[in-house]
Amino acid sequence: MRGRKRVENVGDLVAEARRVYQQNFVEDPEVAVCAPGRVNLIGEHTDYNQGYVLPMALHLSTVMVGSRTSGQSCSVVTIAESADEPKKVDFDIPSESIPLAGGQPMWANYVKGVVQHYRAKPLPAFKAVIASSVPLGGGLSSSASLEVAVYTFLQQLCPDDGDKVAKALACQKAEHTHAGVPCGIMDQFISVLGKEGHALLIDCRSLEATAVPLVDPGLVILITNSNVKHALTGSEYPSRRKQCEEAAAVMGKSSLRDATMQDLEDAKDCLDSVTYRRVCHVINEIERTAKAAEALKRGDYEEFGKLMVESHNSLRDLYEVSCPELDVLVLAAMEVDGVFGSRMTGGGFGGCTVSLLRADATERTMKHIKERYSGCPTFYITTPSDGARVLKE
Ligand code: ADP
Ligand code: GAL
Repeated sequence: MRGRKRVENVGDLVAEARRVYQQNFVEDPEVAVCAPGRVNLIGEHTDYNQGYVLPMALHLSTVMVGSRTSGQSCSVVTIAESADEPKKVDFDIPSESIPLAGGQPMWANYVKGVVQHYRAKPLPAFKAVIASSVPLGGGLSSSASLEVAVYTFLQQLCPDDGDKVAKALACQKAEHTHAGVPCGIMDQFISVLGKEGHALLIDCRSLEATAVPLVDPGLVILITNSNVKHALTGSEYPSRRKQCEEAAAVMGKSSLRDATMQDLEDAKDCLDSVTYRRVCHVINEIERTAKAAEALKRGDYEEFGKLMVESHNSLRDLYEVSCPELDVLVLAAMEVDGVFGSRMTGGGFGGCTVSLLRADATERTMKHIKERYSGCPTFYITTPSDGARVLKE
């Protein structure tokens, strides 16, 4: 965030949200929850191909404070400066006969989608305020953290069965139906199930996760926000997903998770060259992610870093979802002694890179990146956090 003090502490976010709640509703909120953003260490564009991903939850998070209210009408306010206007929306709790549809402003569709797909009844109406330290549209999953915060908030008003995977799936569905983004499960899953001090190796086919410890004090995970977002993001993501699904069908597989490089070679004549490259990325990235998790478990950061760079190059050249800004940030990071690896993270076409480095290389890495990057980068030094939780009032 430029021009305004960066609030990263959950306590400060809650205080701000409470203040705005007081202003709008002239009472104090009864409930406060938070849900984290995420950074993906490796395994990009593999989740919707039923492959592996290795994300961790961030200390950056979305907070929601509020209370139940009588009647049917809900009122929700966001503090986010860059959310579209108006910042306050009113809508009715959906019923069997009148579902909650999307509309304007766009930001409220993430809220409405989760309300619509919430897994318990009867949901009461509510008033709430949302505050977030996750940069909006920066590739660190502000949208998933918003969805998961809303779901966690609703759990306090009308408890569901507590099934965490089902919770992540309901939030993913909200993004599909109300935000129009056919995303995979990674972002919502890690925002719900993230574990302090660990990255999660998520098998997006079985939806099982293995926690991989990541607490070495000699190691730093540095996120660099390019602060650019190219317009392509919206259209290219669904088209990548479609290419993968069509290629899997051509190969007679239910998903690319089941495809090998041999399968790809056998099907080469039936695939155009662009699709061939896309599939090549996915098959190798799934394997790289499994290998990277093993390397991390062994504390083999050199190997992990090498796999990160391979992942970036593959996203740049084969999957074609990088952009010049991300490429420069990765190159710059890799020029610094003590940096093990660096890559773009998230959907691509802007957003952030993630780098793994020796703690003593942090200052010089940020300095070098600033010198080499013509834009204005924002840095986050981060450690793996817990998933969504209720905050004590
Ligand atoms: P990201 O990588 O941050 O998830 P997206 O483009 O997928 O990027 O989602 C960003 C959108 O999510 C924002 O434009 C806004 O509509 C919505 N959003 C995220 N966080 C908030 C928030 N705190 N308040 C209101 N809207 C939010
Ligand atoms: C994100 C999307 C995730 C995942 C990722 C690429 O934007 O929400 O589900 O597909 O892109 O790895």
